[in-house]
Amino acid sequence: MPTVDVAALHDFPDGTAKVVQVDGHKIAVFHLAGTFYALDDTCSHADASLSQGELDRDEQCIECPMHGSLFDLKTGTPRTLPAFEPVATYPVTVVADRVIVEYSS
Ligand code: FES
Repeated sequence: MPTVDVAALHDFPDGTAKVVQVDGHKIAVFHLAGTFYALDDTCSHADASLSQGELDRDEQCIECPMHGSLFDLKTGTPRTLPAFEPVATYPVTVVADRVIVEYSS
């Protein structure tokens, strides 16, 4: 599976997001308390960038900045309307101090 180098660990603080672009496809990567999550950056409801949303630490969700759907960081499933379709998720690993996303289209 192709991989994408996102950032060095020390350049990726807890509670932040980064976006990587692969084959014209944007993937949002989130750091939450030592765990990294990668999801499609574009909301499944309309053209909003999930990386611009607010992280919900308690629920382990990202809130879409446009209409407020909460997406589960692990599964990409929306927990609240108006979005009802999931966004894709991707495995993230940390290798030699680098945050790496395994990407499949
Ligand atoms: S664009 Fe994300 S909930 Fe509407």
